[in-house]
Amino acid sequence: MTNIKRGLNRRLANYGDTEFSLYLRKAFAKSMGYLDKDLEKPIVGITNTHSDLVSCHGTVPQLISAASDGIIEAGGLPLVFPTISLGESFVTPTSMYFRNLMAMETEEMIKGQPLDAVILIGGCDKTVPAQLMATASANLPSISLVTGPMMTGSFRGEKLGACTDCRRYWAAYRAGEVTDDDIEDITSSLCPTAGTCMVMGTASTMACMTEAMGMMLIGGAAIPAIQADRIRQARKTGYCSVTLSKSNIKPRQIMTQSALTNALRVMLAIGGSTNALIHIAAIAGRLGYDIDYKKIDKMSRETPVLVDLKPSGKHYMEDLQNAGGMITILRELSPLLDLECLTVSGLTLGEELNKAPPNWKQDVVRSLNNPIFPEGGIAVLTGNLAPDGAIIKQSAANIDLTQHEGRAIVFDGLEDLANRIDLPDLDVEPDDILVLKNVGPKGAPGMPEAGYIPIPRKLAQQGVKDMVRISDARMSGTAFGTIVLHVSPEAAIGGCLAIVKTGDRISLDLKERNLNLLLPDKEIKKRLSSWMPKQYDNIRGWKKLFLQHVQQAPKGCDLDFLCAPKTLGSIPN
Ligand code: FES
Repeated sequence: MTNIKRGLNRRLANYGDTEFSLYLRKAFAKSMGYLDKDLEKPIVGITNTHSDLVSCHGTVPQLISAASDGIIEAGGLPLVFPTISLGESFVTPTSMYFRNLMAMETEEMIKGQPLDAVILIGGCDKTVPAQLMATASANLPSISLVTGPMMTGSFRGEKLGACTDCRRYWAAYRAGEVTDDDIEDITSSLCPTAGTCMVMGTASTMACMTEAMGMMLIGGAAIPAIQADRIRQARKTGYCSVTLSKSNIKPRQIMTQSALTNALRVMLAIGGSTNALIHIAAIAGRLGYDIDYKKIDKMSRETPVLVDLKPSGKHYMEDLQNAGGMITILRELSPLLDLECLTVSGLTLGEELNKAPPNWKQDVVRSLNNPIFPEGGIAVLTGNLAPDGAIIKQSAANIDLTQHEGRAIVFDGLEDLANRIDLPDLDVEPDDILVLKNVGPKGAPGMPEAGYIPIPRKLAQQGVKDMVRISDARMSGTAFGTIVLHVSPEAAIGGCLAIVKTGDRISLDLKERNLNLLLPDKEIKKRLSSWMPKQYDNIRGWKKLFLQHVQQAPKGCDLDFLCAPKTLGSIPN
C-alpha cells in the first residue's frame, strides 16, 4: 500500500497513523469504483465552477469531460471538485466582494487535497483572477482553461454583443430612443450562447493575459465557448496537466516578474479592461510583487492598442479567433515581450510562437506601426484628488473631454445616485463632472462596477452621450466613456474624494496625467480634519473579515493577510 508513489498518498487526513490514513482513504476511493492501478496514477484535480447562477460557465460540464479524457489518455486520474463560482449579474452587492473568498477557498482546496496538478476552469470575470491568485499561493502545478467567449447575437440585422451593446442600448433607452418593447426584445439577443462576454471586457482580458503569462496552453484565450476547438483545447489541457504534474513545473516558475510584465503589456495592447489592472495587482501581490503605477503609465505610452475589439474598437472575440487569436497578438507584440518566459507546456513563449501556424491577412489585430490607438488603453492619473492613483481607459474615452475642467456634481453613494440622477430638477449641465463616492473596496463594499455613472436622464434626452465621471468604483470592461476610476485612497477611508462637494471645481488633464480638486491646500486640510468614517454595527462573517482586511486598488483589493510575506520587486520590471 505504501508503494503508491504519488497522488493518493499526498496530504493524508490526520488520524495520527499515516498507514491507517492511507488505508482508509484508499477504501473510500475504491467505493467510487476505481481499480488499484487507477489509484497509483498522478491525480489531476479539476475545479468545477459550473453553477446555474453563472451563465457564462454553461459549458463547464463538457469541458470537464474533455479535460478528463485528456488526463486519462496521458495516464492520469481526473478528480473533479467543486469550488465557489461567481456570475457577474447574479450576486449582490458585486462579484468583486466575493473574489477573495473564491480565491481563499480554491487555494485551500488545492492545498488540502491529494492532487499532483490542477486544472482551473474559469471564465466569468472574477473566477479566473480568483483561481490565479489561489494557485499563485498554493503553488501546485496548475493550468488554466477558460470557458471561452459567447458568439455574437443579432437584433434586426445589427450584430450585438454583451455587454458593450447592452450599455449602448440602455443609454439609448434612457434617452427615449428605444421603446419598451424593443429593449425587452434586445435581451433575447445580447447573450445568445453560453460563454463569457464576447467583447474585450474583463473576462476576455483576463483570458488573454492568462495566455500571455504562460498559465494557459497557447491559443486558448479566444476560442468561442461553443466551438469544437474549445473541446479540443480542454482535451489538450487535460493531457498537458499530466505532463505538468510529472515535470513539476509550478506556477511561481511560470508567473514570474517578466511573465506578469508580459501580461500587463498585453492588457494595454488589447485595450483591455481596467479591472484587469486590479486583478493582476492581486495576483502579483500573492507572488511578492507590487504594481508600479508610474511604470505602467510609461509602458502605456510605449504600447499602442493593436486589437480592434469593442469597447475600444469594432470587432468581437469570435473575430479575434478568426484572426488567429492571441498568437497573432503575441507575434505582433513580440519585440516588446520577454519571449524566454516559461509556459505550462514546458516550452518558452518564444518557442510556442515559433511552432504556431503562420499569421494570415486579417483586420482585427493591427501592426505596431498601424495601431488603432497610439498609446495603451489605460492611463494612470495622479493629483490631489488621487494621491495614490486613479485610472482612465483612454482608448474608450471621448478625446474632447480628456482635458477638462468642470463643476462637480457629487453623489454620496449608490443610494443617493439612484435617488437623484434622474430628477428633472437636478442642477446639472453637460460640462459638469459627475462624482460618485463611497463605492470603493470598503465603501460599497466590494468596489462595484458603478463607475459608469449614467448620464442624467434630462441630459441624455437632450442627446448628451458622455460626461467626465469620477469615482472610487470600478467599471465593467465592456463599458466606455470619459470615466475616471479606482480613485485611491477611496472616500470611505478618508481619501480626498470624501470631501468633494457639489460646486467644487475639478480638473482632468489626461495629457499631463493629472486629476485635481481645485481648492487651496488649506481648505482641503480643513475639510479632511473634520471628516468622520462610517461606523459599522453588528457585522459578522465574511463582511467583517473583508472590511477589516481589504486593501486599496493598487494592492489589487486583496486581503492583506493573503499577500506574500515579503516584497521581491515590482511590475512591470
Ligand atoms: Fe460573465 Fe461577462 S458576465 S463574462
